[in-house]
Amino acid sequence: MATPVRIAPSLLSADFSRLGAEIEAVEKAGADLIHIDVMDGHFVPNITIGPQVILALKRHATKPFDVHLMISPVDPYLDEFARAGADGITVHPEAGPHVHRTLQHVRSLGKRAGLVLNPGTPIDALDNVLDLVDLILIMTVNPGFGGQSFISSQLAKIEAAANRIAKAGRSIALEVDGGITPETARLCVAAGADTLVAGTSVFQGGAAAYAANIAALRG
Ligand code: DX5
Ligand code: ZN
Repeated sequence: MATPVRIAPSLLSADFSRLGAEIEAVEKAGADLIHIDVMDGHFVPNITIGPQVILALKRHATKPFDVHLMISPVDPYLDEFARAGADGITVHPEAGPHVHRTLQHVRSLGKRAGLVLNPGTPIDALDNVLDLVDLILIMTVNPGFGGQSFISSQLAKIEAAANRIAKAGRSIALEVDGGITPETARLCVAAGADTLVAGTSVFQGGAAAYAANIAALRG
């Protein structure tokens, strides 16, 4: 039987004045992971939250924190995000000079190491670091903002990543992020994705709608 798809609500679309309560609400509504977008206003044109906020949120959560770092340089901050409570740390290959070393470092901290590919980043970026990753994240929008439209040219990259995972012969999560709705979720899952990050489509309608929104993404 196929593994059920995992849903990772992106806090970027939550109410920032009550993030702890938002985490509790999406967990109650069926979230499998909590996706946290860290942005620095330099690697991406937006600024969000840092490790101190993650540390404060940790006590509101029982599900793993899936921390997506959109900061450059990324290496000096890995230890701090690990200490703050990240369970998985996902990095962009463009965010430092030696992505292999970055992934090694995440692993050495005892965290799940993720590599994330922007829409313009070729799948080959994965090839020489596949043995170091526990998660591959395919961006289906350019990083920086919630609420953007799904870029369908990335479906071929999801398929290519799924093929590489099949050849690797071990469990590696295949996550997608950006413009995920019930419709695009179906396309991504058909292409091989097993983990869906979704901001807008989970948090729209307020807490009363979260369970139905998550169920709709599961399809
Ligand atoms: C964008 C972030 C996403 C974002 C997705 O840079 O990585 O996680 O929150 O938002 P939606 O689901 O609204 O496209
Ligand atoms: Zn993200």
